[in-house]
Amino acid sequence: MREVYRALDKRLERTVAVKVLPVEVSANAERKQRFAREARTISALNHPNICALYDVGSQDGIEYLVLEYVEGETLGKRLEKGLLPTEVLLRHGIEIADALEKAHRNGVIHRDLKPANIMLTKSGAKLLDFGLAKWNAAGASEEETLKTLTRGGTKLTNEEPHSIRVPFRCERGCRDRPRRNPCPSRAHRPWR
Ligand SMILES: Nc1ncnc2c1ncn2[C@@H]1O[C@H](COP(=O)(O)OP(=O)(O)OP(=O)(O)O)[C@@H](O)[C@H]1O
Ligand SMILES: [Mg+2]
Repeated sequence: MREVYRALDKRLERTVAVKVLPVEVSANAERKQRFAREARTISALNHPNICALYDVGSQDGIEYLVLEYVEGETLGKRLEKGLLPTEVLLRHGIEIADALEKAHRNGVIHRDLKPANIMLTKSGAKLLDFGLAKWNAAGASEEETLKTLTRGGTKLTNEEPHSIRVPFRCERGCRDRPRRNPCPSRAHRPWR
């Protein structure tokens, strides 16, 4: 678990997010390496739906990343208040799929995709936290790709997966939830 602070970059007069590796964790070479890898990974991915990296460094034994400050709430927090309207769900789903496609094209597998790592902002969804991401050289064979994937059943996070239920709607936007398929009005057909 890293610590993330909202901070002010006085030189550029902009709000930033500073993600630090606490001193007690900095002593762990593997965690330090993972942090450095996270920085390299984000800096290689330039995409409107991926949180940007501004700077990276270390001071008094504390490793830090300076990130674009993403104003909004995580998808996890948002889901505590209820389901997303279908239209919003689809919009954010497409944005995240787009961000993942960019990552995959660059040989990066995120491996920690969950509501706490997705920020919803006024301008769209942003993918965060490449701390567990793995690199896989672009153009690698399927066998090489599979070697970099996590073994089935390996737990990467303590968080339970959320099941997002998408309410049924027929293609005419009929709001009543028909019990039968197609919609009882007969004229309506279900969305595919
Ligand atoms: N760039 C950012 N702007 C605003 N808030 C952020 C930003 N990055 C992270 N946060 C907030 O901090 C929380 C934790 O960040 P993040 O997921 O990157 O770290 P983490 O989960 O502690 O790291 P890890 O799981 O890799 O140990 C996020 O859920 C989000 O609420
Ligand atoms: Mg996280």
